[in-house]
Amino acid sequence: METTTIQPAVTSNNATDFLPLQGTDYVEFYVGNAKQAAHFYKTAFGFQSLAYAGPETGMKDKVSYVIRQNKLTFVLTTPLRINNPVADHIYKHGDGVKVLALKVEDAANAFEETVKRGAKPYLETTVLKDDDGEVVLSGIHTYGDTIHLFVERKNYNGVFMPGFRAWKSNYNPAETGLLYVDHCVGNVGWNQMNPWVSFYEQVMGFTNILSFDDKDISTEYSALMSKVMSNGNGYVKFPINEPAEGKKKSQVEEYLDFYNGEGVQHVAIATHDIVKTVTELQQRGIEFLSIPDSYYETVLDRVGTIDEDLQPLQELGVLIDRDEEGYLLQIFSKPLEDRPTLFFEIIQRKGAKSFGKGNFKALFEALEREQDARGNL
Ligand code: FE2
Repeated sequence: METTTIQPAVTSNNATDFLPLQGTDYVEFYVGNAKQAAHFYKTAFGFQSLAYAGPETGMKDKVSYVIRQNKLTFVLTTPLRINNPVADHIYKHGDGVKVLALKVEDAANAFEETVKRGAKPYLETTVLKDDDGEVVLSGIHTYGDTIHLFVERKNYNGVFMPGFRAWKSNYNPAETGLLYVDHCVGNVGWNQMNPWVSFYEQVMGFTNILSFDDKDISTEYSALMSKVMSNGNGYVKFPINEPAEGKKKSQVEEYLDFYNGEGVQHVAIATHDIVKTVTELQQRGIEFLSIPDSYYETVLDRVGTIDEDLQPLQELGVLIDRDEEGYLLQIFSKPLEDRPTLFFEIIQRKGAKSFGKGNFKALFEALEREQDARGNL
């Protein structure tokens, strides 16, 4: 089955959307050393210090640093003791994404609607209060040990949420043009893609807007399958990957091995100027997958005219794809951990609403031409 048409992910009548989402609220990473991770994300990606919680604010067993760039908020959390859930998570998975937090108007309702449809509860509706108002949280489990928290902050004026204090720093590296989360991709196990597609459909009211089978995403050696799930207004998009049989190990299988289970494979971050953003990120030490020059010899035949000069895109290794509605520019980082697990995508959309399908084959064909030239195909 090959479905390439983009289905409109629109529930035009909001009354029928039982889980109205206002977008990604934040992404929380459980990491081995949040103090250093915060410094890394500030230095390399241009995040700004926002908030802190730890023993000084009454949180005894862990610390969290909150960093922000435009609408992109990361929380970096480290355990202070053994025998707590954060420590156990890191022991099993290494550094990785624990929480994909979603902004809602009514967290109690989000919990009720999803649990009623079969979600496994993670956090019962909880009201956190301080002098700046209240934040209401609730949460459910998704694939692996990953959590969706529903965050209701319409009655809160503080810097992040109760329990956190403002984090002022004298070290404020310039931003790099990162704007917001475009999509977050989950890797799930063999034969688990469709069950998780059903979960997002039935429990969260999402729609399957795109599907890629192993013929779309395969080389001579490795394959995967993917389905893109979107909420009603399209603000939240979760592609789900599973490995497929190939001559060698699928990249998804490698992830599952090293992460010890299912989890977030990549977070895609939007920018308005990918050349500027990626130039800056590379100068600050972020490494991206390298693209053979042969890719750029034919790419414009495939995607047609684009606004940008090809030369800087080629120098950076930015990929280009087009769909019915426009084109997109995208690039993939190498994993940000020593384990081959989580990485980032930087994406600039110029009308296109898809995910770079044209690059799957073009990229692999380009790689195989290189391989052929070396006599190894
Ligand atoms: Fe992506």
